[in-house]
Amino acid sequence: MRITDTSDLWWKSAVIYCLDVETFLDADGDGVGDLEGLAQRIDYLADLGITCLWLMPFYPSPDRDDGYDVQDYLGVDERLGDLGRMVELLRLAHDRGMRVVADLVVNHTSDRHPWFRRSRAEKDPAKNPYRDYYVWRADEPGDTSDQVVFPDKEDAIWTKDDKTGEWYLHHFYKHQPDLNLDHPEVVAELLRAVGFWLELGFDGFRVDGVPFFAQEPAKEGAEDAVDPHAFMRKLRDFIQLRRGDAMTLGEVNLAHQDQLAFFGGESADEFHMQFDFIGMQATYLSMARQDAGPLVTALQERPVLHRTNQWATFLRNHDELTLDKLSDAERQEVFDAFGPEKEMQVYGRGLKRRLPTMMGGDPRRVRMAYSLLFSLPGTPTLFYGEEIGMGEDLAAEGRMAVRTPMQWSATKNGGFSSAAPSRLVQAVVGDGYGPEHVNVMDQLHDPSSLLSWVRELIKIRHACPELGWGDLTVLEHDGGPAVLAHRLSLEQTAVIALHNLGPDPVTVTVSCEGFGDDPRVVDLRTHEVVDPAPEIVSPLEGYGVRWLRVRRAGDLAVP
Ligand code: NOJ
Repeated sequence: MRITDTSDLWWKSAVIYCLDVETFLDADGDGVGDLEGLAQRIDYLADLGITCLWLMPFYPSPDRDDGYDVQDYLGVDERLGDLGRMVELLRLAHDRGMRVVADLVVNHTSDRHPWFRRSRAEKDPAKNPYRDYYVWRADEPGDTSDQVVFPDKEDAIWTKDDKTGEWYLHHFYKHQPDLNLDHPEVVAELLRAVGFWLELGFDGFRVDGVPFFAQEPAKEGAEDAVDPHAFMRKLRDFIQLRRGDAMTLGEVNLAHQDQLAFFGGESADEFHMQFDFIGMQATYLSMARQDAGPLVTALQERPVLHRTNQWATFLRNHDELTLDKLSDAERQEVFDAFGPEKEMQVYGRGLKRRLPTMMGGDPRRVRMAYSLLFSLPGTPTLFYGEEIGMGEDLAAEGRMAVRTPMQWSATKNGGFSSAAPSRLVQAVVGDGYGPEHVNVMDQLHDPSSLLSWVRELIKIRHACPELGWGDLTVLEHDGGPAVLAHRLSLEQTAVIALHNLGPDPVTVTVSCEGFGDDPRVVDLRTHEVVDPAPEIVSPLEGYGVRWLRVRRAGDLAVP
């Protein structure tokens, strides 16, 4: 495998950056971020080393779930700009070798979507071609309170519509009716929208809420159950025919076996990528315990994928830090360590905090966590502001706590907008993590900043295809339970990463067997040559990290 071989499956060695246009940069001063503002920051993102942008929903929307309630699949929310601005952004990004993927929310629409308005107008499908665009039932459903996604706001997944006296399905909020993904016309309409965005220049889609496509409750008594895989195969097929190199990234927070099915198993004909929710949660448990054990287990249990597939690794995203895959006792351990106050927790399953506050502001722990993220096998995905260590606004409602404006400088509104603070789409974080303490401008040229650290790790990552493509081995070592030592090997070369999840200094000894009699080892950060014989001996500070490149003597494929 040479570096030049990796570009076809570009997502395997990408660095993804998620942002919401409305909170990134406001160019026209109305208090809402916009596409023009994002365009002005494309070079910032390119310089950071980002190779793929994931835009959170930008469609026209009543905005009752931050845009995840789509009113028109073919438009741009006019507060953010228009299609012309979108084309401009795509061109600017592509010009810098950056791909752009859109959030595709097809499990549900807004209740203001014209399809739903028409669907609820008449219950007889013979008279109303839109009736079956959504999932309706005439009989009163039983208790479904255990199936709701947002238990603070909803107590059932069926809501009675006064207009026709029937109940419609909604796994999320009641203003987000679930689409019937088994309906040929619904599928055709959605594919038309997907084709439109591909034609405009998008490079793929992050697909929202996949586990709910199945519509289990509607299966009762139904002759044809909705098969989410049939929908996924149609989506993948259509996308691939239109754009051979387009990528789909699924939000599929399910057990490994179910995730494998959504990759399409052996035929690999569904998602290209899926988020590694299990690995993410294990990482927090490991950090809370200062014991690499849970992370090692998660990495070892994580299925090995088809070569065209990939895991998307992450530490934070725009939602709560979900801990739903941990046991109650494990979740409580993470709560105790990283979010003990009730106001920091949401839905009984997660935390509405960002990483630095959870780490008590300790820069060593924060850096170690990002080093882990960038060295684990998979494609790292950042949520905007992580690179500078932004905090959260606990006073904001639920998940909005982590969706505050990007902090560009120590000036008014953190440089996000020139509008009066009362007009901002969301308040800027205050106190110790406010823009006067945490902002891009201060960190940009400071070699000791978190931003410089993240940029350095990304740069190393881009030079090491082993990280996105390599085979994982968790290495034996004598550094104690707090240490994770792992190796990613790709043919003749490998990256070995050492991480100390605990506060005490340790010395770690690992072997580099498999690389001949005279392996060459170099420290990827300091470029120092390391003596590998008979083993590599590395002192690590508390929360210390080390990245090493190993190759056979005489192999000149990598430095
Ligand atoms: C998952 C998204 O990540 C979340 O933000 C949204 O509220 C739900 N899906 C509903 O679309």
